[in-house]
Parts: sequence; structure tokens; C-alpha cells
Amino acid sequence: MRTAVIGAGVMGAGIAELFASHGHEVTLIDVIPAALSAAKERISRHDAKLASIVFSADIASAKAAEVVIEAVVESLDVKRKVFQELDRLNPSAILASNTSTIRIADIAAACKRKERILGLHFYNPPQKMELVEIVRTEETNEESYRRAAELCKSLGKTPVTVKDEYGFVGNRGLMPLINEAVWMLHEGIATKEDIDRVFTLGMRHPMGPLALADFIGLDTCVAIMEQLQRGLKQEKFRPCPLLAKLVKEGKLGRKSGEGFFRYEKSI
Ligand SMILES: NC(=O)c1ccc[n+]([C@@H]2O[C@H](COP(=O)([O-])OP(=O)(O)OC[C@H]3O[C@@H](n4cnc5c(N)ncnc54)[C@H](O)[C@@H]3O)[C@@H](O)[C@H]2O)c1
Repeated sequence: MRTAVIGAGVMGAGIAELFASHGHEVTLIDVIPAALSAAKERISRHDAKLASIVFSADIASAKAAEVVIEAVVESLDVKRKVFQELDRLNPSAILASNTSTIRIADIAAACKRKERILGLHFYNPPQKMELVEIVRTEETNEESYRRAAELCKSLGKTPVTVKDEYGFVGNRGLMPLINEAVWMLHEGIATKEDIDRVFTLGMRHPMGPLALADFIGLDTCVAIMEQLQRGLKQEKFRPCPLLAKLVKEGKLGRKSGEGFFRYEKSI
């Protein structure tokens, strides 16, 4: 299948790799050339079928795709513009957003052909994590939904269908946990290592919430929480100031080499 992925960051590069490893043609698009070369380097490390991925700085390269996955920064404005452009360029593809929190109907608002727009929320790293949340808006048609679910299954994923509401299931549940761990660190309840140990050793989480926040990207965590707070109007989603402070210092987690913890190699 001809696919295009918009945004070559943490998620976009992983989704492109996932598609390529299942034999799909992939065009990976980003506005920042350095993001494209970093993605190329990252994908080549995993020995994926790099040759089947075309790297492009021009969104018009998504013109002939049958499925387009948008994985740009978690901003409604940026996503809306990308979808408007895609809606104009490509009248027939399924257009899916990988947003963590934003309502798909809000992203699709400015598009003409809303029936082929839905959410496909892959988890990080998308090459490995089994779950995809499929988000249907009131306008998504049965055909697009069915094709998207089949695509997920063909990629070895288990899709679950969720309502088009801020944060869906995953992030609405996860972000308060991460935020509370950051608050505990902020208040000096325990060291960062011990906070994470409580969750890994005491609850068998595969990684602690602070390491997980680094993995997701602290800037992305803040954007997700702010969107949840705005959308659901609940104080419990207000990001701990320590998170915003680290982001301001450029400590974005694994992707910048440092967040709560330090990393030898950025992803
Ligand atoms: N990081 C995670 O663990 C995770 C998990 C699931 C979903 N998501 C969601 O996936 C999306 C991407 O997150 P990420 O962590 O990969 O972010 P990221 O910051 O690593 O990458 C975003 C990329 O989008 C590019 N970009 C920005 N505007 C663009 C445009 N107009 N056209 C093309 N490219 C553009 C940036 O240059 C950057 O390379 C977000 O919506 C996020 O909420 C993230």
C-alpha cells in the first residue's frame, strides 16, 4: 500500500519504519530537514527496509498515498493546517492523526471530506507496542473505519475503538500518573530512581513513570496535559511546574539526551 507519514519525530519515524517493515511504500515528510536526516539515521540503526522509505520536505509528496498518518507536534493549529492541506492535495486517502489528546473532530473541522478522517493512536515505540486506539468521529464512515482497523491488524496490532474525547483512554489515564510522580519528585518524597522503583518493583510496570515521561518527551507530556486540562477542565491535569522547567532548559527526555535521567544516545 502507498502510505505517507507527516512528521519525522519520535513517532513519525517509528510509524514509517513499521509500515516499511510490513512491505508498504512509505514517504516520510517533515518541514525540518534535520528531523528527516535524524529519522533516517535512527531507522537505519534498526535495519528496517530503509530503501522503501522516501524522505521529503514537501507535503505534496503525500498526494498519491492511500493512507496518510499525521504525527506532527501536538498542536491543534499545526495539525489543522496539515489536514487542510492534505484534504486539498489528496481527495481519496484515509487521513489519520496520531494525536495523543486532541479531538479528531476539532482537527477535521476545516476539512471538506471528513468521512475519511479518524484517529490512529499508535503507542511508543510503534514498531513494538501492540496497541492502537482507533478514534471515530461522528462523521467517520464505516468503510474508512473498517479499512483502518484491517490495516492495524495487518501490522500485527490490536486495535481498540474509543470515543473522540480528549486524551482517549491511554493518555487520560497515564498522564495524571506521570504528573503525580513529577509532583512527588518536586516535593522531595523520594529520589527519582526510587519513585520509578516503586512502580517497576512494586507494581511490575515495565518502566517507571519518570523514565516513561523521558521516553515520551517532556515537551509532548506538557502539551498533552495542557490540552487535557483545557479540554476536560479539570485541575488534576495541570502539569507540575518542574516539567515546564525542564522543558524550558531544553531537557526534553531521551530525544535531547537528558530529561529526568541522562541518556548516552538520543532517540
Ligand atoms: N512521543 C510519544 O510517546 C507519543 C506517543 C503517541 C502519540 N504521540 C503523538 O504523536 C505526535 C508526534 O509526537 P512526537 O513525539 O513524534 O513529536 P516530535 O516532537 O518528536 O516530532 C514532531 C515532528 O513534527 C514535525 N513537524 C512540525 N510541524 C510540521 C508540519 N507542519 N509538517 C511536517 N512536519 C512537521 C517536527 O519538525 C518534528 O520533527 C503528537 O501528536 C504526539 O502527541 C506521541
